[in-house]
Amino acid sequence: MDAKEQRYIMATTILVGAQWGDEGKGKIIDVLTDRNDIVVRYAGGNNAGHTVEVGDQKFVLHLIPSGILHPGKVCVIGNGVVVDPVALVAEMDGLVKRGIKVGSDRLLLSETAHMVLPYHRELDAQREVLKGKQKIGTTKRGIGPAYGDKAARIGLRMIDMAKPKEFSEKLARKVKENNEILRALGAKPLPVAAISQEYLAAAKRLRPFVANTVVYLHNAMKAGKNILFEGAQGTFLDIDHGTYPYVTSSNTTAGGACTGSGVPPNKMNTVIAVMKAYTTRVGEGPLPTENAMISDLLHGLGREFGATTGRPRRVGWFDAVATRHAAMVNGIDELAVTNLDGLDTLERIKICVAYRAGGKTYETMPNDLAVLAKCKPVYIEMDGWKQPLHEVKTYGELPAKARAYVEKIAELTGAKLAIASIGPRREQTLTT
Ligand code: GDP
Ligand code: IMO
Ligand code: MG
Repeated sequence: MDAKEQRYIMATTILVGAQWGDEGKGKIIDVLTDRNDIVVRYAGGNNAGHTVEVGDQKFVLHLIPSGILHPGKVCVIGNGVVVDPVALVAEMDGLVKRGIKVGSDRLLLSETAHMVLPYHRELDAQREVLKGKQKIGTTKRGIGPAYGDKAARIGLRMIDMAKPKEFSEKLARKVKENNEILRALGAKPLPVAAISQEYLAAAKRLRPFVANTVVYLHNAMKAGKNILFEGAQGTFLDIDHGTYPYVTSSNTTAGGACTGSGVPPNKMNTVIAVMKAYTTRVGEGPLPTENAMISDLLHGLGREFGATTGRPRRVGWFDAVATRHAAMVNGIDELAVTNLDGLDTLERIKICVAYRAGGKTYETMPNDLAVLAKCKPVYIEMDGWKQPLHEVKTYGELPAKARAYVEKIAELTGAKLAIASIGPRREQTLTT
């Protein structure tokens, strides 16, 4: 084992997205899984879409940790995740069909994770309609209403599936209750019997996977296992630290790994943040560096379409105000910069180093969205490298201008560069 590899052997690593999601977390998790025993999802639900390319095969994971593609590694869906049981069964079946083993020996599902149910999805869609122009642009997977029920203490949890009769009664009651709300919103009520049947069948399938994952993880740590915490979404979609209300409904930032898994802060060793060499966002809300030229460039290459909804992602220049903020709230030790190759053809590349609004300069993100909406980026410019990076084999072989760019964005973010990614595949990963 060389020194570079040694660096990634550690007890616990939290991996987060430093921007607005889709930073390439799935790819980097896949690379880091080699050096870990267990991969834990700790927040979000099947609003996530984590892409992993292995050889000529492409997988998009929504609920199951990306580590599942490595035989012999254990994957845990932690208590902080909201799980649609039917969607989870479908995802498991999809993987099994493609030859991936998904037995209860390698996938554990927290008994205290909350469920996403059909009325959450329907309410999500209806609330978006009601919001009209102010819509969030959610993935319509029911995430907001499911976390809402969790906070209101009226949710159903995985542990409820252990008693089928009571589960079925509770579920029928909840569907009827929510049908009243849906009717009041002018939407169609949901079929109680069909939902009960579908979710009871999923519950039966999932029961062997349900476990006390907090105890499991603590025993694993005692046994010296290395654990990787797979963040979903990104820092600016965090319910507390994001561009509220244009956010998701969970703590996507590093602290969420503790509350969403039951592993306390003093057991966490390293935070790795993933960020693109530019910025993307899918859904509504502020994106100060949004730019039509770079957006057209990447969409023209068939890139930057959502892995979950297929929506075109909005694209902008790299925003160091945002990533500096991300370094603050996540405590980033190391950076993985992905999609460097997306900028291959550019003559000059802009980096946002501050915002200007109303005669003021902002070096961190203002919380007032009205101010943020007025913010104009202050850019510096760097030379492009104007050559394809896909085939580069080591960090040292990168063109000097590409190295200068990636090192500049790491410096502006205020964290150590560890990985530069130059393509979607495992081997297109350069460690510094
Ligand atoms: P995640 O949600 O953070 O896991 O990211 P997504 O999977 O939603 O989106 C990232 C996209 O970028 C996927 O299509 C990846 O295959 C792709 N990707 C990741 N790293 C690179 C890279 O360095 N270069 C290129 N060309 N694609 C990458
Ligand atoms: P990964 O893990 C990018 C966005 C939605 C919307 C907002 C709220 O693949 O990076 P929600 O359905 O969560 O209520 O939607 O959050 N969003 C994501 N954007 N990547 C994701 O996940 C996202 N998950 C949610 O587009 O703007
Ligand atoms: Mg994604």
